[in-house]
Amino acid sequence: SIPRFVKIVEVGPRDGLQNEKLTIPTTVKVELIHKLVSSGLSVIEATSFVSPKWVPQLADAKDVMQAIPLLDGVKFPVLTPNLKGFEAAIAAGAKEVAVFASASESFSKSNINCSIEESLNRYREVVSAAKELAIPVRGYVSCVVGCPVEGAVPPEQVAYVAKELYEMGCYEISLGDTIGVGTPGTVIPMLEAAMSLIPIDKLAVHFHDTYGQSLSNILVALQMGISVIDSSVAGLGGCPYAKGASGNVATEDVVYMLNGLGTKTNVDLGRLMAAGDYICKHLGRQSGSKTAIALSRA
Ligand code: HMG
Ligand code: MG
Repeated sequence: SIPRFVKIVEVGPRDGLQNEKLTIPTTVKVELIHKLVSSGLSVIEATSFVSPKWVPQLADAKDVMQAIPLLDGVKFPVLTPNLKGFEAAIAAGAKEVAVFASASESFSKSNINCSIEESLNRYREVVSAAKELAIPVRGYVSCVVGCPVEGAVPPEQVAYVAKELYEMGCYEISLGDTIGVGTPGTVIPMLEAAMSLIPIDKLAVHFHDTYGQSLSNILVALQMGISVIDSSVAGLGGCPYAKGASGNVATEDVVYMLNGLGTKTNVDLGRLMAAGDYICKHLGRQSGSKTAIALSRA
C-alpha cells in the first residue's frame, strides 16, 4: 500500500538553477525560495557550496543563504562536495548539508573530479565535522540506473555506495537517476538492492524526467514503501556534468498525483504553481509541469 504521507524535497533552486545558461539574479532565487516556502514545502534545497569554476550559476551561494529566512519547520539543505564547501556553508548559516557520491566511476570523475572511494573519504570528513556541530547530512547517490559514459549501472554497486553513505552517518539517502533513463523495469531491482541494506524509511528517490518515466518510477517506489520524493518546481533541472539530462520530475505533477492517491503532502498546489509561474516568467520559458500547464488553462 502507498504511504499516507509523503515528504517532498524541493530541489528546484539547486538542481534546477545550477543548469541555467543565464545568470539568475540572487534576488530572483531568494524570491523563488520565499514562494516555495509559502506553498507549504518543508524541505527546500537552496544552493550548493561547490567550486564557482565548476558551477558558476551557484557562485552566489553565500548571498542566497544569508537572504533566506530562518524558519521553524522549514529546512534549507545545501550541497557540499568537501570540507571547504562544508565550512563555507556553515559560515553562511546553513543548518543542514548534503553530500553527493556516484554509483558510476566515470560520472564521479566528471562531476566531482575524483574516484568513488576518494569521494567517500571526503564525505567521511564532512560527516564527522557535521556531527560535531549537530548538523544533519543527507547523502545522494547519482547514476543509480544509468551513467552517461558507462551505460547500465549494477544495482549492487548502487546499494554499496548508498550503504557506505548511510553507515558514515547520512540520515537519508537519495537515489538519483541523474540522466532519467530508468523505467520501473530497472528501478525496481535497484530499489530492492538498496532496501536490502538500508531501512526503507531512510531512502528517498530523485528522478530526472528525460524519458518521461518519472511518475511511473515514483509510483513503483511508493508501492515499495518509499515516502520521500525529490522534485523540482516547474520541472527545472539537470546536471551540467550529465550531458543530455533534462529536468527533475516537476513538483506540481508529483503533488497532483499524490493528491489523486489521497496521500498527504501539506503542499498547496495553487501556491506551488505561483512559484513555478514566477520562475518560468523570469526564464522566459513554458513550465515543464504538465499539471501546471493544464491547470493554468482551466
Ligand atoms: P577540483 O578542481 O578537483 O578541486 O574540483 P580542488 O580541490 O583541486 O580545488 C580547485 C579549486 O576549487 C581551488 O581554487 C579550490 O579552492 C576550489 P583555486 O585555487 O583554483 O582558486 N574549491 C572550492 N571552491 C568553493 N567551494 C568548494 C571548493 N572546493 C574546491 N567547495 C570539486 C573538485 C568537487 C570542488 C568540483 O568538482 C566541484 O565543485 N564539483 C561540483 C559539481 C556539481 O555541483 N555538480 C552538480 C551537483 S550533483 C547533481 O546535480 C546530481 C544530483 O542532483 C543527484 C542526481 O541527479 O542524481 C545531486
Ligand atoms: Mg539531480
